[in-house]
Amino acid sequence: MAKSIHTQVAIIGAGPSGLLLGQLLHKAGIDNVILERQTGDYVLGRIRAGILEQVTMDLLDEIGVGERMHREGLVHGGFELLFGGVRHRIDMNRLTGGKNVMVYGQTELTRDLMQARAAAGLSTIYEAQDVSVHDFDGRTPSVRYEKDGKQHEISCDFIAGCDGFHGVCRASVGRGAITEYEKVYPFGWLGLLSDTPPVSDELIYVNSTRGFALCSQRSKSRSRYYLQVPLTDKVEQWSDEAFWRELRLRLDGEGRERLVTGASIEKSIAPLRSFIAEPLRFGRMFLAGDAGHIVPPTGAKGLNLAATDVKYLSAALIQYYSDRSEEGIDGYSARCLARIWKAERFSWWFTSLLHRFPDDGPIVAKFQQAEVEYLLNSDAGSRTIAENYVGLPLDFGQ
Ligand code: APR
Ligand code: PHB
Repeated sequence: MAKSIHTQVAIIGAGPSGLLLGQLLHKAGIDNVILERQTGDYVLGRIRAGILEQVTMDLLDEIGVGERMHREGLVHGGFELLFGGVRHRIDMNRLTGGKNVMVYGQTELTRDLMQARAAAGLSTIYEAQDVSVHDFDGRTPSVRYEKDGKQHEISCDFIAGCDGFHGVCRASVGRGAITEYEKVYPFGWLGLLSDTPPVSDELIYVNSTRGFALCSQRSKSRSRYYLQVPLTDKVEQWSDEAFWRELRLRLDGEGRERLVTGASIEKSIAPLRSFIAEPLRFGRMFLAGDAGHIVPPTGAKGLNLAATDVKYLSAALIQYYSDRSEEGIDGYSARCLARIWKAERFSWWFTSLLHRFPDDGPIVAKFQQAEVEYLLNSDAGSRTIAENYVGLPLDFGQ
């Protein structure tokens, strides 16, 4: 085994959660090492949602990584719902007293964070194989991994499990110490990325008789579209032409007229899942981001929840190191979960409102239509959608 090194916080996973946490801790003078199973290019190749709430924008600014986001990101003050062929706009900005969201791809955000970490000379060990976490129930946790055929060990004060849904940290917790809540949805999202101008300035969420569709974007010249598809579909079955044909069928006349099609840059099918682990702290190990919870993508809450987890975790660790108080780390799990459950509820509800569930008959489509008519004709109803979409205030209701 190679000589063991020590760091204050060993972070597992170099996705948005791990990279954000690393920068926040570094800024506070807390040293950290990130271990990532994949290469940096692989991490950047994963296409995910790209809607940032104000809290996420603020966090990027706080660590000095927001410059490109402000330059290239698109501020959106509203979005559209296309229901039964009729469009309705949710004026988020008006309904929330001036709040907006930022359209900025997770890939770009991850790239900015990677560059900032490299510029600060911080250690990220990519292609770390067989990462394992040890003794987090005691005072001297450690992390072991293999790299280039050699075994390594890092001793640390704390372990941050930022290793996503399939990571090693949550899986290392004793079964009796964790409760997992899960709902798997009976359909997937087929996503297509293309260098074509978006069909509309704002996002359009579509509930059609043929199923859900979403018209999203990454910039003025790059579009991201999604179609609800059966779980049995394989991406190879979907040519670009078939995708565009189906999207047209789910759009309205205006959408069909304005849609610009082109070759796909990326096409993939993602399953939809609601998942929450409780608690998120196990002695000296914490779970943050997708390691602790998954939302269905409807409403794009995943990245924003990851950002608030690491905001709370960094605050707790800073409190620990600055005045040896364990109050923050003791409260971490409850503080995060209070926010997570509300975003999980919204994502589940928004998914239920917009999709066709295979076992639901025409009556549920009528319920959805009635619900949307109610929500959009009531200021309170519209505000409920808007204030959840832009993100509830930090520590809401606590
Ligand atoms: N050892 C080392 N690294 C690991 C391991 C392991 N055993 N298991 C997983 N990882 C790495 C993955 O390769 C990945 O790069 O952990 C990282 C986790 O990153 P993400 O899955 O992006 O999770 P997170 O950083 O929490 O980001 C949350 O991503 O999925 C979206 O909706 C989600 O936008 C949200 C964001
Ligand atoms: C996306 O652009 O990928 C996206 C946007 C909004 C969502 C989900 C995904 O609700």
